[in-house]
Amino acid sequence: MKPKLVVFTGAGISAESGIKTFRDSDGLWEEFNINDVATPQAWNKNKALVLDFYNKRRKQVLEAKPNNAHQALVTLEKKYDVHIITQNIDDLHERAGSKKVLHLHGEIIKSRSTTDSSLIYPIKGMELNIGDRCTRGSQLRPHIVWFGEQVPEMENAYLIAEKADIFMVVGTSLAVYPAAGLIDYTPRGIPKYLIDPGDVKVNGITNLTIIKEKAGIGLSMLAEKLLASTT
Ligand code: APR
Repeated sequence: MKPKLVVFTGAGISAESGIKTFRDSDGLWEEFNINDVATPQAWNKNKALVLDFYNKRRKQVLEAKPNNAHQALVTLEKKYDVHIITQNIDDLHERAGSKKVLHLHGEIIKSRSTTDSSLIYPIKGMELNIGDRCTRGSQLRPHIVWFGEQVPEMENAYLIAEKADIFMVVGTSLAVYPAAGLIDYTPRGIPKYLIDPGDVKVNGITNLTIIKEKAGIGLSMLAEKLLASTT
């Protein structure tokens, strides 16, 4: 059986594809107020503004391409049972060819019913608009986990992390919980890697190697090393 490699990714892995991160100096949360566009209250107050914000994000994602970091994770599938747990709402891991991708914070290319959360649809084209309805007749919302909402996939993510043989963290500020706590669910003894050009605060994590590089270069180097290792 292949060793299980669990990779926890954030906005930084898509930065080199031209998609803005959230908390860097040119990040989205510098430009927009979270409370205006990414909460249930924002949706109740101004649906058009929220839809417009995500329509712009969707356009950027659809125009972007996977980068070397996404590709490096695909090459690791030759030797490892790779599970990606991503906070990203883009589909660049899937488009690169990764087979097992769990989205914690939703998916920009999908919409969801506002009366029945099990009704999830692919969005045709770039936009979701006022008047777009589910099969039960209610307004569709972006299939995104907003601030203040439950993270329905979190339990599944814990189950995957608990069984990791190797764990990687790539391109996340680890600022948003519960996702940021995932590393605490990994087995203590396993090798862990963190790839990020910034200073990410991590305390009390055993066996952690920090690679202070952008994801493209850092992940390509690490993938090469892991693929060449005999263990
Ligand atoms: N390669 C790797 N990491 C990078 C790169 C790069 N080229 N460029 C920037 N980074 C790093 C930054 O140093 C930072 O640590 O990516 C991280 C981005 O952090 P955030 O913007 O906070 O993004 P993320 O951690 O994914 O945010 C978590 O917050 O608002 C939300 O729901 C949204 O899923 C998101 C969550």
